[in-house]
Amino acid sequence: MSNPIHRRILFSIILLSTLLCMCPTTCAAPAFHSSLVKHAKRRIRGQWMRMIMENVTEQDEQVFSSPLSGIILDHRLPESGSNSVSAYTLKGTYKGHNGEDLVIKILPHNSTYTWGEAKALKAVGDLVDSGTISYTNPARGGSPKYLPAVIMKKKSGQILEHLPCYQGAKPAVKKKLRTSIVTLLCAKVAEVAATKRVVHRENHKRNILISLKDDKSLTVSSIELVDYGWPGTFFVYENVDATDVKSQAVSVPCI
Ligand SMILES: Nc1ncnc2c1ncn2[C@@H]1O[C@H](COP(=O)(O)OP(=O)(O)OP(=O)(O)O)[C@@H](O)[C@H]1O
Ligand SMILES: *[C@@H]1O[C@H](CO)[C@@H](O)[C@H](O)[C@H]1NC(C)=O
Ligand SMILES: *[C@@H]1O[C@H](CO)[C@@H](O)[C@H](O)[C@H]1NC(C)=O
Repeated sequence: MSNPIHRRILFSIILLSTLLCMCPTTCAAPAFHSSLVKHAKRRIRGQWMRMIMENVTEQDEQVFSSPLSGIILDHRLPESGSNSVSAYTLKGTYKGHNGEDLVIKILPHNSTYTWGEAKALKAVGDLVDSGTISYTNPARGGSPKYLPAVIMKKKSGQILEHLPCYQGAKPAVKKKLRTSIVTLLCAKVAEVAATKRVVHRENHKRNILISLKDDKSLTVSSIELVDYGWPGTFFVYENVDATDVKSQAVSVPCI
């Protein structure tokens, strides 16, 4: 396997089979835990969470009603734009925040999906502002369009593939790092679910930002979740208690 293309393919397969398959499905689909049955029985649909769009109110539908002003786009974020239109950091300051600490995500439509995303960001405490913005996609050109956008707190860290020291590491070291990421990721999903009542289920590699304590031993210092867009975002039912949510979100295969 000296051919770099072969190595790239092999790398992608390993990454997909570990991070993409193992973690997202186990975190995302916890086994039905017996302690939740008593709560679930009281629920209409016998589940402990529902898609966030089901909780969108008429007030939530107005989340993009005002035009945003004073926005100067700075750097476009890498990997942005497969579901969204694109994401950028901001120049200067915005509403008392340093623009570099913020991300504006431009969304394709004013709809139940994007109202749900804004609602989730608000619930987790990441939403700074929302509204419409006049935007021309540099890759497509044409005349500017008024599109909905959310301004949120920028999370620290990088996706796994962008960590420079990950790329050059030996397979055993990479595996150990991925295992520790999975453990921390599941704990984070559980924490957010229990404290904010929002379940982040779309835990694929582009939605997890990793910070390292130390490049040499590749020790993870923190994990951040990004992207509360459709279809990966759920709300925990009101009468399910935090301890049960935590045990549900961290299912056995996660740890
Ligand atoms: N709050 C944030 N802080 C830091 N980086 C972010 C933030 N939100 C998004 N990003 C970065 O921008 C990229 C794209 O954002 P996001 O996943 O929200 O867009 P998307 O088009 O819905 O993507 P995808 O189709 O990959 O799910 C992410 O991979 C992440 O690296
Ligand atoms: C979500 O919507 C249901 C009705 O569909 C309602 O009973 C419940 O109070 C809502 N929960 C929240 C947190 O808004
Ligand atoms: C978005 O949709 C809501 C509900 O239909 C509407 O009231 C609102 O004006 C729309 N906002 C924009 C910017 O189109």
